[in-house]
Amino acid sequence: MRTAEILVSQEETERQERFTEMIRTLPHRPHYYHVVTYGCQMNAHDSEKIAGMLDRMGMEPSTVREEADFVIFNTCCVRENAERRALGNVTWLKEVRKSKPDMIIAVCGCMIQEPGMAETILKQYKFVNLAFGTSNLHKLPELLYETLDSGMQHVCVEDKDVIAEGLPVRRLRQDAAYLTIMYGCDNFCSFCIVPYVRGRERSRDMKAILYEAEGLAKSGVKEIMLLGQNVNSYGKGLPDHPTFASLLRELDGIGIPRIRFMTSHPKDLSDELIEVMSSSRHILPQFHLPVQSGNDEILKKMNRHYTREQYLDRVRKLREAIPGIGLSTDIIVSFPGETDEQFEDTMSLVKEVRYDSAFTFIYSPRTGTKAARMEGLIPDEVSTDRIQRLIALQESLQQETLKRFIGQEEEILVEGLSRRSKLAVSGKGRHGISVTVDGNEADIGRILPCRITGLKNNTLMGERI
Ligand code: SAH
Ligand code: SF4
Ligand code: F3S
Repeated sequence: MRTAEILVSQEETERQERFTEMIRTLPHRPHYYHVVTYGCQMNAHDSEKIAGMLDRMGMEPSTVREEADFVIFNTCCVRENAERRALGNVTWLKEVRKSKPDMIIAVCGCMIQEPGMAETILKQYKFVNLAFGTSNLHKLPELLYETLDSGMQHVCVEDKDVIAEGLPVRRLRQDAAYLTIMYGCDNFCSFCIVPYVRGRERSRDMKAILYEAEGLAKSGVKEIMLLGQNVNSYGKGLPDHPTFASLLRELDGIGIPRIRFMTSHPKDLSDELIEVMSSSRHILPQFHLPVQSGNDEILKKMNRHYTREQYLDRVRKLREAIPGIGLSTDIIVSFPGETDEQFEDTMSLVKEVRYDSAFTFIYSPRTGTKAARMEGLIPDEVSTDRIQRLIALQESLQQETLKRFIGQEEEILVEGLSRRSKLAVSGKGRHGISVTVDGNEADIGRILPCRITGLKNNTLMGERI
């Protein structure tokens, strides 16, 4: 069975527990940690696991980076600017350590898993005490112990795709939780580095997922976000090949009030999934469906395995089955060789779909990917012009699409005080759109029914009912 081969063994788990205990009793161990997170929800959840493991080692979180004696950067490398920002901040900390020589600096996450990065850390970032890749996360106790014990730099990147069950988690929010259902990605979209740094696609056992969800339900969690690079292909490689739709059906029965998921790949969005969503009680009426481009030739060069028409068909099906569904997307402009006409196809697709929100990116070449070897890099000024036009279009359309909520009832899960006023709170509605309503600190973590009364700068305004 494939799952058993990639599961971290009980023996290994116990080994890490022994290192955890050993660190607790080390006289010169760090006492306060600070985790800096870049990138997507996967990384945010990994950071929660890092914090959980450090808690078990007897350390406490510090909200101020400079006051911690263990600082760990959980990095992203999906675009060049993400990487540059992470490395810049790591270097800046080197200065801080001059007045705090006991500080331990660690770097982990996707960037470390990039080809050549381990050597770069060894040669150019000697001040970094510890670096490890995404597949070594569960080994943090051992790696940190060895670093503290030897006083030497430790760099560990093993290319083994594993699933580590049962790691402790310190959740950022008490009312909402991440739940990973699969790791890695096998899609190899030609622009994307994720398959190279997160390894092959592997799904968690359905029982393990349901067990974790039940635990979260018992602890009072009101919303779970299912995580995976391509949740729609959940189950591939598992015995009996369960589908994502069947997993959702089971999760819906547990009774957690709100279930969301990301990310979906259009090529794997099945009719069964749409059917389960439309008949479920707790799966929220929202969908993040990255399109990347509106032009067939570019989609082909991107290795996306769908055409514009097939994508639009999925959107139509979703809207028919779940009227009013909240739709969002990711778009890349200036993929190598993208002509003005091909870019216009993306603009026209955005007009046709009318998304509630869109994350837009300028193509960034990533070493090792297929697109990085393609010709036709687009000049910066063209890319800037394209992305500005796309953002302006999306913003103007969003003003229109969001109006459909005015006068409607919506339920929001309150995340915090509104940034604009102390007498208001904000949170996400069932459709995935932020809503601001009157309220105070006591409302944080509650589900509030409200009526949408208006729209201000692409945020919905509401009143409690
Ligand atoms: N697995 C998810 C998320 C991938 S990364 C998915 O398939 O949607 C999130 C987004 O970053 C992608 O959807 C894509 O729009 C963007 N992205 C990825 N690689 C990129 C690159 N090299 N340049 C610019 N944007 C990129
Ligand atoms: Fe990257 Fe494509 Fe996989 Fe998403 S589906 S992580 S864009 S390779
Ligand atoms: Fe970045 Fe890794 Fe996520 S590269 S987008 S943190 S999977």
